[in-house]
Amino acid sequence: MEKTFAIIKPDAVERNLTGKILSRTESKGFRIVAMKRVCLTLPEAEGFYHVHKERPFFKDLTQYMCTGPVVLMVLERENGIKAWRELMGATNPAEADEGTIRKDFAVNLEKNSVHGSDAPETAAFEISYFFNPAEISS
Ligand code: CMP
Repeated sequence: MEKTFAIIKPDAVERNLTGKILSRTESKGFRIVAMKRVCLTLPEAEGFYHVHKERPFFKDLTQYMCTGPVVLMVLERENGIKAWRELMGATNPAEADEGTIRKDFAVNLEKNSVHGSDAPETAAFEISYFFNPAEISS
């Protein structure tokens, strides 16, 4: 079993897509082992996306992530990191495969509905950024 970190972003929460995304997640064999709905502060969003701080989209991305509530999750499944990235689809929804969350729900590259860790080290950082070990129940 491998844990990954996921976010349902403000565009999807705002359009009441949380349940639909959770349903797809569980039906693909993931266990939601931790979950909370919060509004991020700008410093929290900036710290979370620190690897992108030199990128031209950093300011817009971090501000966007604070425009409304998000749902933060730890997901668990065999091969969880890769499996969740496959279920999300490509970062740019215009390039996402049929049947992926981003293909079906994302608005554009910024408002792309969901986030997922891209590697084991990133998953470890991202999980611990938002969750204490006591909040995760496998
Ligand atoms: P996410 O998987 O959360 O990781 C970083 C986010 O930056 C990405 O999804 C997109 O929502 C956002 N983003 C905005 N512009 C770009 C871009 N040009 N390339 C990659 N990510 C971008």
